[in-house]
Amino acid sequence: MSAALQGKQILLGITGGIASYKSAILARRLIDAGADVRVIMTQGAQAFITPLTFQALTGNPVHTDLLDPAAEAAMGHIELARWADYVLIAPATANVMARLANGLADDLLTTCCLATEAPLAIAPAMNRLMWSNPATQANLATLVSRGASIIGPGAGEQACGEVGEGRMSEPEAIRDALAAAITTTPNNSNELQGKSFVITAGPTEEAIDPVRFISNRSSGKMGFALATAAQAMGAEVTLIAGPVALDTPPHVKRIDVKTADDMLDATLNAVKNADVFISVAAVADYKVAKFSSEKIKKTDDELTLELVRNPDILKTVASLKARPFCVGFAAETQNLEKNAQGKLNAKKLDMIAANQVGQANNPVFGSDTNSLSVYWGKNKEQIAPAAKLDVARQLLKLIAKQIN
Ligand code: PMT
Repeated sequence: MSAALQGKQILLGITGGIASYKSAILARRLIDAGADVRVIMTQGAQAFITPLTFQALTGNPVHTDLLDPAAEAAMGHIELARWADYVLIAPATANVMARLANGLADDLLTTCCLATEAPLAIAPAMNRLMWSNPATQANLATLVSRGASIIGPGAGEQACGEVGEGRMSEPEAIRDALAAAITTTPNNSNELQGKSFVITAGPTEEAIDPVRFISNRSSGKMGFALATAAQAMGAEVTLIAGPVALDTPPHVKRIDVKTADDMLDATLNAVKNADVFISVAAVADYKVAKFSSEKIKKTDDELTLELVRNPDILKTVASLKARPFCVGFAAETQNLEKNAQGKLNAKKLDMIAANQVGQANNPVFGSDTNSLSVYWGKNKEQIAPAAKLDVARQLLKLIAKQIN
C-alpha cells in the first residue's frame, strides 16, 4: 500500500448522491493507508447516509453546519480549512462542482474550499447527461484550470438505470489517485514536466470466431498506475489500453484497442512525437491464422487452430529511426535476470523492468502490488514490493534520471 497517505490530514467532503455509500469504504481505505480523516457532509449527503456512520469509521466528529455555534466552538470552518493537507470531495455532484467553480460559499463544505490553501481533488458522480452537459464540462474545466485533480468518473450502469459516464470511481482507485497526487506535489511534480509519454497497458484480445478469443490475465493495473503517476509528475500521457475494466486516470489521453495489430497502429501513431515509450501491455504473442466468421462447431473431439505470430510492438518502436526512450517490461516465471537481459538486448531497449509473475502469493497479473528488477546498460536497480502506484513512481524516477 502507498505510504503517501501516511499521516496526511484529509478533509473528506461528501455531497448528496447515491454513490455516497461508497464514501464509507473510501474513508476506511484512507484510514487503512494511515490518513487522518475528517468528514464534512452536506444536507444532501445526509439524506443518503448518516453522519454517525462516518463518525464511527473515522473516530472524529462529523461536520455538517456552517452556522452551528457548538461545532464552530470545537473546530470552526477556518480551523478545518487550515487543518487539511488535502481536500477530497467524493462523491462530487454537478451542483457542488458548479458552486465551487463559481466561488460560492453557501455551506460548510464550499466555505472550507474557499478558505483553504490545501489542494482539491474531486471524484464526480452524476447521471451521464448531467456529466456531459456543457455547463458541467465548463465548470470542470474551470476547476481543472485552478489546479483541482479530477478522479474519474467511470462509465457503466448508473443508479438511475442509464448506462454511460458518470459513475463515481471505486474507493481504491480514488485512494490511489489521491496518493499519486500527494506524492507528486509539490516536491517532484515537475520531474517529467514537458515530457510526452506513451504507455501501453492491459492484454490484447485476438478473436478466433465471433464468440471466442485468445487473451491473458493482465488487468491493466500496472500500466494505468504508470500513466497516473507520470501525469501527476508533469508528463503529457497517452495511454493505449487493451480491454480492461479500469477508470481513465485524470488528464490522461486514453485510446482503447482490442488486438495486437490495433495496438501497433495506435502506438506507431502516438509515439511520433513522444519522449518515452513504456510497453507494459501483455500483448498476445499469437493470433489465429484465419478468423472464422461463423461460430466454430464442436463436432470433432479435437480441434486444431493454426496460430501465427503477432507483431512485436516494442521491437517495432525501438527500431524506428527517430525513436523515443524505450522501456520494456519482462514478465518471467523463472531466470528473471537472464531472460530480461536477453529481451533488453534482442529488442534494443534503453531499459527493462522485470517482474516475477505467477507466484501463488503474488501472481502480479491482476494484483495490486508488484516489485521490479530494473536493468539498463550495465546498471541494475531493485524496486521492493509495494502498491503498483508506488512501484510506478520509483520506476518513473529512474526513467527521469536517464532522460533529463
Ligand atoms: O496488467 P497487470 O495485471 O497489472 O499485470 C502487469 C503485467 C504483468 C502485465 C506487467 O507488469 C508486465 O510484465 N507486462 C509485460 C508482459 C509481457 O508481455 O512480457 P513479455 O516478456 O512477453 O514481453 C516483453 C516486452 O515486449 C513487454 O514490454 C511487452 O509489452 C512487449 N511486447 C511483447 C510481445 C509483443 N507482441 N509486442 C510487445 O510489444
